[in-house]
Amino acid sequence: MKTYEYKETTALFRRAAKVIPCGVYGHFAPAPYVPVDHYPFFANRAQGSKFWDVDGNEFIDYMCGYGPIILGYNHPVVDEAFQAQIKEVDTTSIATPQLVELAELMVDMITIADWAFFAKNGADTTNYAVTIARAATGRPKIIAFKGGYHGTSPWMQAPGHHGVTKDDLRNIIRLDWADFAQLERAIDENDGQVAGLIASPYHHPIFSDNAEPEPGYWQKVEQLLRKKGIVFIVDDIRCGFRLNLCGSNELYGFKPDLICFCKAMANGYPISALVGTDALKTDTAKVFHTGSYWFGGAYMAAAIACLKEMQRIDAPKILKEKGEKLFNGMTDIAKGHGLTLSVTGHPSMAYPKIIDDPSLMLHQDICGESTRRGAFFASHHNWYITTEHTDEDIQRTLDIFDDAIKAVKKQNAR
Ligand SMILES: Cc1ncc(COP(=O)(O)O)c(C=O)c1O
Repeated sequence: MKTYEYKETTALFRRAAKVIPCGVYGHFAPAPYVPVDHYPFFANRAQGSKFWDVDGNEFIDYMCGYGPIILGYNHPVVDEAFQAQIKEVDTTSIATPQLVELAELMVDMITIADWAFFAKNGADTTNYAVTIARAATGRPKIIAFKGGYHGTSPWMQAPGHHGVTKDDLRNIIRLDWADFAQLERAIDENDGQVAGLIASPYHHPIFSDNAEPEPGYWQKVEQLLRKKGIVFIVDDIRCGFRLNLCGSNELYGFKPDLICFCKAMANGYPISALVGTDALKTDTAKVFHTGSYWFGGAYMAAAIACLKEMQRIDAPKILKEKGEKLFNGMTDIAKGHGLTLSVTGHPSMAYPKIIDDPSLMLHQDICGESTRRGAFFASHHNWYITTEHTDEDIQRTLDIFDDAIKAVKKQNAR
């Protein structure tokens, strides 16, 4: 199979490194992409399940913008809604009616939602949620789980993160995922001090196995938090709308007080939402939180169209079926080569990993070789799929994966 070259990517990256810290920063940075020369870093075009890089190479995409693309790139229904509204009005000096329409739709869709609030990025909503928890309880501390990611504000980072001080983390209690006894102990030791607990519906740390909750786990947490008057915040930014259109908590049978949404909400158009229960509506109204672009009517129109389209086609069902097909196929191919692919997390956004080499070099090499053959695989992060990934895309991906394993085995045999 032909392997790609990245002359234009390399030239652009050299220019970027001169004028941009890190060249390409944040989660699009090259750092986790090893071997780095197997990956593209600049795209020119995208459509459906695919994007094309600046060298003209075509990729079946399994990162989907790290989650925002759920209905496929350039989805006509969402794009038309956006275009129609942006021609009329987007950001102006007052809100547009889409603000109300979108809030009504989300209150209708999301089981626990009595109200909705909109921003741009995921961290806008996780920051708001913890502030609301503190305002509502008058307490300072927030419980989160080790390896959980809620954005890049200092309080959300692990100790030792560059630029983060002890003071930033003073009121954050980081616990092991799914250790209920540890959670009970932490709440007892900080009696009357804990304002909220923030967690994703299931654990999806990078470079590590993902973990769905054991049956009954969230129900026990919910009961404990209610008893102690602690606000229960679900960060559904990554899982939202991929697992369940009523909130991912519904899949696992529990009810939080606040849910943060962002990725997948508008198929790539920038918008995020915090939804909550009536009990927190007054305190939420008291906490001032806003941003220059948070009232963009066109982005809200895109979200309305995306949410309705996901409902119409039952997007989570399609994603689960496609994910199962992909990961079952990959597991069989790995097995055929005497390798083990572990697949953790929900099939619609699982984290696949070749586990035969604990250093992860083998896994990284196979992901890199697959990418330079046209299937964009990340080795460090859960993957994503869109409703537009076709059976042909999946079959082509399996062929690429097979060829990539053969290539890596050949290289390692030298
Ligand atoms: C679970 C989770 N929470 C919060 C965030 C932060 O979202 P944003 O980068 O849009 O601020 C992310 C982003 O990847 C995320 O995956």
